[in-house]
Amino acid sequence: MSYKIVALPGDGIGPEIMNGSLAILEHLSNAYNFEYELETHDFGGIAIDNYGEPLPFSTLDACKKADAILLGAVGGPKWTDPNNRPEQGLLGIRKALGLFANIRPTTVTKGTSHLSPIKEERVVGTDFVLVRELTGGIYFGEPKKLNDNDALDSLTYTRKEIERIAKVAFDLAQKRQQKLTSVDKENVLSSSKLWRNVINDVAQSYPDVEVNHLLVDACAMHLITNPSQFDVIVTENLFGDILSDESSVIPGSLGLSPSASFSEQGPRLYEPIHGSAPDIANQDKANPFGMLLSVAMCLRESLNEETAANHLETVIYQLIKEGKTTRDLNGNYNTSEIFNFVKENL
Ligand code: IPM
Ligand code: MG
Repeated sequence: MSYKIVALPGDGIGPEIMNGSLAILEHLSNAYNFEYELETHDFGGIAIDNYGEPLPFSTLDACKKADAILLGAVGGPKWTDPNNRPEQGLLGIRKALGLFANIRPTTVTKGTSHLSPIKEERVVGTDFVLVRELTGGIYFGEPKKLNDNDALDSLTYTRKEIERIAKVAFDLAQKRQQKLTSVDKENVLSSSKLWRNVINDVAQSYPDVEVNHLLVDACAMHLITNPSQFDVIVTENLFGDILSDESSVIPGSLGLSPSASFSEQGPRLYEPIHGSAPDIANQDKANPFGMLLSVAMCLRESLNEETAANHLETVIYQLIKEGKTTRDLNGNYNTSEIFNFVKENL
């Protein structure tokens, strides 16, 4: 069976981390004997330059026909038109493909805890997954309004939207340590009151999973003071955006964290959680591990290549342990050198 993979390198450091990662994917496909067809498409700022819009029809069409999508990063100071921003492509593709569930793991592996900005003894053993609702909430709620004197964003959620993300999170917790933390702002927001009710309703079907509710401000604090207490965290779109950036630096660098987004059926999208880092683009400085770990997630979840995924992850964590990292992780190496290390060690 041959898989269809669509690569969307995007902007800034996106193309550099994508190209090297695709070479690693090719290397693995030879070693592990699996086949795929690859198409690369413009997305984000580069698509605005070439097509006038961040998510051209041809790009979306290719994504719809794919088994998996690999995304680098989008955005940059070059694209300033508030009505035509690269980020709108990101929201557009999430909505068009129904990618409602965004999975963002945070792991502090043995031997890498010294890289954390938090005291080592606090982060040791940290291993949790943040499940972020990705197609609802204030990102998409209508009405929206912006003029010189007032602005409006709407935070809306339906029971159905909360139920389906809750099920993803409970299913995941069941396979892990059976601990689910639901994060909301139930003391203030109506959408959060509904959120908490629905989580409690869904919990009835998962008696083996222990559920805790945390207010988002408290959760932000617990992530710093005691991150190892978490197993699965589930939260709405905007809280998930913020908490996942916070989580991602616990292992030492935003450049390390991968993510996967999926719909009820259809292709999954894999991307590092960092942005396009235009300040270091084309300087061979970007940390490629977030992209490579996203490729590992893709291998495991969309290509059923669990062994290749494990192999790639093991190599990456070994390199980090040995200090073979980019500058953001206190290393001395360039992006291209890291890719070479990965290849040699595979
Ligand atoms: C992310 C990003 C996006 C988001 C931006 C670029 C629109 O921060 O994927 O976390 O807010 O979802
Ligand atoms: Mg974000």
